Amino acid sequence: MSPFPPPVAPAGVPAPAFPASEATGHHPTDGPGQAELLAFVRRAAADTSLVAGLPLDPEGRTWLRLDGPGGSEAWLIGWPPGTGTGWHDHGGSYGAFATAAGSLREDALAHHLPAGGEPGTTLRIPEGADRARQLGPDQGRAFGPHHVHQVLNTATHDHAVSVHAYYPPLPLMRRYSRSGQALRLEHIERPEDWQ
Ligand SMILES: [Fe+2]
Repeated sequence: MSPFPPPVAPAGVPAPAFPASEATGHHPTDGPGQAELLAFVRRAAADTSLVAGLPLDPEGRTWLRLDGPGGSEAWLIGWPPGTGTGWHDHGGSYGAFATAAGSLREDALAHHLPAGGEPGTTLRIPEGADRARQLGPDQGRAFGPHHVHQVLNTATHDHAVSVHAYYPPLPLMRRYSRSGQALRLEHIERPEDWQ
């Protein structure tokens, strides 16, 4: 999960409508830009009634699909303390996310890794390429199509809630394990794995 949600959605929880029509500057031929996705996730994260509609579970992440702008894929995600995504990319999609409640840590790389390859491929992360940031309420960031990261709620007691958007809708995600400066492609997930 890109914090991308696990494959199965919680049963019986209707996704609240979040009007994509609020999107601005969208051109159907080229999709929403990173700035538009960032504006969307920040606006959604500030929507207290939307955020309050997400059920929280102390045992695991919860999520609701949102109507992202311009055909983007968007999610509202709840993170119990201690949960995280593991290292992953977004299959060439760019995106944005913003924290609505609590705080999330993002570990990312200031380095373009070559995309693609088969599971088992190991990539070398240059020394000094690691970047960590803490995103508190109302803080967000956009990221490009080559972004590799992991997102974690490192709090000991407090849930975190965040909003994420991707364009194009995620075609796949590559999941990596990390050991020191080595990032090993473990498997490739596709949308059918998330249904
Ligand atoms: Fe992600």
